[in-house]
Amino acid sequence: MKAYFTRAYTLCASHRLHTEALTTAENRATFGKCNNPYGHGHNYRIEVTVGGQVEPNTGMVINMETLDKVVGEQIIQRFDHMNLNLDPLFAHRVSTTENLCIVAFDLLAAALTPAILEKVRIEETENNFFEYSGAR
Ligand code: NI
Repeated sequence: MKAYFTRAYTLCASHRLHTEALTTAENRATFGKCNNPYGHGHNYRIEVTVGGQVEPNTGMVINMETLDKVVGEQIIQRFDHMNLNLDPLFAHRVSTTENLCIVAFDLLAAALTPAILEKVRIEETENNFFEYSGAR
């Protein structure tokens, strides 16, 4: 028997899509206005899904306060109102929302054990959604 709990969080951060693997012209052609040297910001909505057995005594998969604490420490405090490009985790990867999903998933999965992190889903804009469910 497995149940899932998803909780949403808001994260405001800036970034610039740019990689040193490409030339200036290639960066501009690949990332368009998202390669603007001054960057731009998003109000990301991050959905964190935890799965597992429902603990008989509490009726819960995970205590919401536990999840809030882990997400707060691992994600919100680290990235909220920050420039993603300046974080060491983005030193060698483009700060796309695909990569933000992966970074967030890996940070949370390590901190949430023994609860199982099933998925991180991020809404970057009202039209763009990204998901990552771990390396499997
Ligand atoms: Ni962007």
